[in-house]
Amino acid sequence: MTNPAAEVFDQWAREGKDAGMEKGHSDVVAQVMETMEVRPGDQILDLGCGNGWATRLLAQKAPGAQAIGVDASAEMIAKAEELHSFTIRARYERSVFEELDFPDGKFHRVFSMEALYYSANPAKVIAEMHRLLSEGGTADIVIDCYEERAATHHWGGSLGLTLQVLSESTWAQLFTDAGFSEVKTSRVVDTRGPGDEADFTPSDTYPDFAARSAFFEEGSLWIHAVR
Ligand SMILES: C[S@@+](CC[C@H](N)C(=O)[O-])C[C@H]1O[C@@H](n2cnc3c(N)ncnc32)[C@H](O)[C@@H]1O
Repeated sequence: MTNPAAEVFDQWAREGKDAGMEKGHSDVVAQVMETMEVRPGDQILDLGCGNGWATRLLAQKAPGAQAIGVDASAEMIAKAEELHSFTIRARYERSVFEELDFPDGKFHRVFSMEALYYSANPAKVIAEMHRLLSEGGTADIVIDCYEERAATHHWGGSLGLTLQVLSESTWAQLFTDAGFSEVKTSRVVDTRGPGDEADFTPSDTYPDFAARSAFFEEGSLWIHAVR
């Protein structure tokens, strides 16, 4: 399997950047997960799971719930297995999320943090989500890089990847077109804020403090949809 994003994220895993993603995404993910009604025994899919930190949190949301994280990066999946606890009902599989080897209707919840726009074909991934969810199942998808958030538009160039930088309404339309109902979009603002300018160090993600502040102000795009 050759996937350009997997090569980038293999390298990130080797450099330990998976931990930084967990820290960076934790506040927004906590806000979204708080709203997810995971029931005992639910089957949950985490698309683009990275080191599996969110997969493990999802599995612990209800007794007997089970979560599966998938990621195209073998090194991220290896990290997820290293960090795994056998007291948690979670497992991890290396797979691209455009073509998933699970039966129709297997899952009650699909979750994804910061992964969908790496796919060259988001419509196909959304069709897969629709296939894999049971009737009444929910998708909660969070995206940091989108059209209205100008502070993220350079990310693809920095990573050497082509990202699908779509507008909020385009994302919503893709879910509606795939057959989802009750498609809602909203923004989730990281409650920790951008921090103090005195402590700021420029990076590929935030070249200056103004970019970091703008990023925080706009919030992450959250799409909630019902199968
Ligand atoms: C920005 S990281 C987010 C990881 C994790 N959700 C987190 O919050 O820490 C995006 C992840 O999506 C994965 N990914 C990108 N494109 C993918 C694809 N087509 N199929 C499966 N995983 C993919 C990458 O390997 C990477 O681990």
